[in-house]
Amino acid sequence: MRQLKQNVLAVGAIDWDRRMFDELIPLPGGTSYNAYLIRGSRKTALLDTVDPTKLEVLLDNLVKAGVRTIDYIVSHHGEQDHSGSIEQVQMLYPDSKVVTNAKCKEMLVEHLRLADEAFMVVEDGQKLSLGDKTLQFILTPWVHWPETMCTYLAEDKILFSCDFFGAHRAASALFVDDEATVYEAAKRYFAEIMMPFRGPIKNNLKKLAALEIEMIAPSHGQVYNRPAFILDAYRDWVGDGVKNEVVLAYVSMHDSTKRMVEHFIGALMDRGITVLPFNLRDADSGQLAIALVDAATIVIGSPTVLTGPHPKAAYAAMLANVLRPKAKLAGIIGSYGWAGKMPEQLTAILSNLKVSLLEPVLARGYPKDTDFAALDRLADRIAAGHKELGILH
Ligand code: FEO
Repeated sequence: MRQLKQNVLAVGAIDWDRRMFDELIPLPGGTSYNAYLIRGSRKTALLDTVDPTKLEVLLDNLVKAGVRTIDYIVSHHGEQDHSGSIEQVQMLYPDSKVVTNAKCKEMLVEHLRLADEAFMVVEDGQKLSLGDKTLQFILTPWVHWPETMCTYLAEDKILFSCDFFGAHRAASALFVDDEATVYEAAKRYFAEIMMPFRGPIKNNLKKLAALEIEMIAPSHGQVYNRPAFILDAYRDWVGDGVKNEVVLAYVSMHDSTKRMVEHFIGALMDRGITVLPFNLRDADSGQLAIALVDAATIVIGSPTVLTGPHPKAAYAAMLANVLRPKAKLAGIIGSYGWAGKMPEQLTAILSNLKVSLLEPVLARGYPKDTDFAALDRLADRIAAGHKELGILH
């Protein structure tokens, strides 16, 4: 239990050992489920709860803080890592109301066992007085799910942002103490759950610009006492600009595709293009997601397994398709033994991407001079595309 400002306490839990989230997202640095207690002169509010696996930590912190009454449990987001303990907290504090927006209420009713009378529904911009402290609710859809919202504590100028600006990072320090490490963790988090919603997030950032914010307190990771750091990073990530980078996600079985990849990396480097290769044999999908945030071009490299792409290449294509990065160009390279539909199948998987698809380069068996020449031409086309975008000079 730690204090952000007077009568504003962090009462959530650090999960040092968690290594996967949603059984999808690797968490190399663990995570935290942040909950905040705000004591006003008349009322007390708990902002979010914790993942059910850490309920005891939250309850212990509430006991240590001497909390006898909770009037409001503010729920910013229906996902269970923040909402999953509401029912138990409400059983211990039966007079409390769950304060949330109508869409989040709907989700909480579906996911938890909360009765209709448990709720107080609030609108965008609505204020709730705790006495000498005032909560203002700001709907910020799609900072993970469609129902997400933030709370602004006007008197202390703190924005409680839930997943928005979050970072999966377990750390003993309450406030950000290492911006470089937090930048990477926050970018990984953005890439994995928010990248598809760049448009709505841009609007949310504009909405927050009207507020004077001294601290941002997310529901994962540390509290930002220099908010410009994470606000600037988000503006960059959701912006339309791409970088002179090629993400090259590949897998190889008998080194034919690998030899093509090696040649292709050199060809791109010769043309002044930054290459970010990921051998899908053991690549961290979080690192791949981070690379997709900025890259102008995505190239998938795959052998042909029976008649289609290698499943690891298909997974990388599926991940890119789900995350919908802002890349402008995409290509496919790889090899085959006798025949197959590898490029067609990968192209179909990438259907969400708004990219110009470049002519695939396929080698039959081990690549030969003609295949290397085709890879050089592909590198030429990418260089020309990057020049048109104004990112390669
Ligand atoms: Fe941290 Fe979308 O839950």
